[in-house]
Amino acid sequence: MDLLARVGNAVGLGRAATFDDIIGFSRRDFLKLTALGAVGLALASCTEQQLKDFEERVKNRPVRRDINTLTDSDPVLVSFRKAVAAMKALPAGDKRNWTAQAEIHNSFCPHGNWLFLPWHRAYLWYFEEICRELSGDNGFALPYWNWQKDNKVPAAFWGDASNPLFNGTRQVGPTSTLTPGYFSPANIEAILDETNFELFASGSILASQGQRTSSPGGQGQLESGPHNHVHTFILGDMGGYHSPLDPVFWTHHNMIDAIWVEWNVKRNNPNTNSGEWNRTFTEFCDRTGAAITIQSVITILFPLFSYRFDDPVLGVP
Ligand code: C2O
Repeated sequence: MDLLARVGNAVGLGRAATFDDIIGFSRRDFLKLTALGAVGLALASCTEQQLKDFEERVKNRPVRRDINTLTDSDPVLVSFRKAVAAMKALPAGDKRNWTAQAEIHNSFCPHGNWLFLPWHRAYLWYFEEICRELSGDNGFALPYWNWQKDNKVPAAFWGDASNPLFNGTRQVGPTSTLTPGYFSPANIEAILDETNFELFASGSILASQGQRTSSPGGQGQLESGPHNHVHTFILGDMGGYHSPLDPVFWTHHNMIDAIWVEWNVKRNNPNTNSGEWNRTFTEFCDRTGAAITIQSVITILFPLFSYRFDDPVLGVP
């Protein structure tokens, strides 16, 4: 079985696959092809045993689950609380420190342009890695808040300061409900039905422009709609650029990511093919706290190789 056939098999096609099968996830997605090429190159120098390990790891990649399906003692929540508490206890000079992580967002997060989705996906991925490291739970996967289904801030985030997932700055309570319009299945479906990447995922900027440049095309429906409205509903830390100080941030953006996976991978809508979209980010750190470099194009492959979602109902089935 050749390399890419093995990769295709590993991502769950259930049989040996060809390169063409793999890119069939989105045949028109030129940048995905570029990213797969990079993975192919990386794999080309692997031994047979390393390839087998890779295949196993991809098949068994962590599953991101709906936080409202977890009991309070579920290992996912236990590890999440443990990791957040550990991050809060790290020295300020450690990039994995809770406030230091929020500072990355405060200083670098792109909004109002098409880097919004890949940047936040990379941010969540490295956060999830840090959680694995600090909880000692290597199978940990970040849970998500499915606000299409559950219109209150999930129970896991309430209680008092003894709960690491609690945040006292919120301007809502456990029984406050989201404005229905933005989060109804019909509205989520309308967003998922958008086939133009820039209208779905926010507008273009040039590679020569700073990553926080507002696109003339403005925010896409996902960002301006449910994304913004969760932030302005909760307020407190969630209302500003330090929003990751509120643990609910991570599960909110995980839902945004799940919608991108639904749109791009499951419904096979192509992302942009513009090379202007492929940018190098250097502001994140890995699970040891060391600085890393990641390109936006590679994030397209994360949900194929690095994690997957359980089966959320998104839009109108
Ligand atoms: Cu960069 Cu929802 O925030």
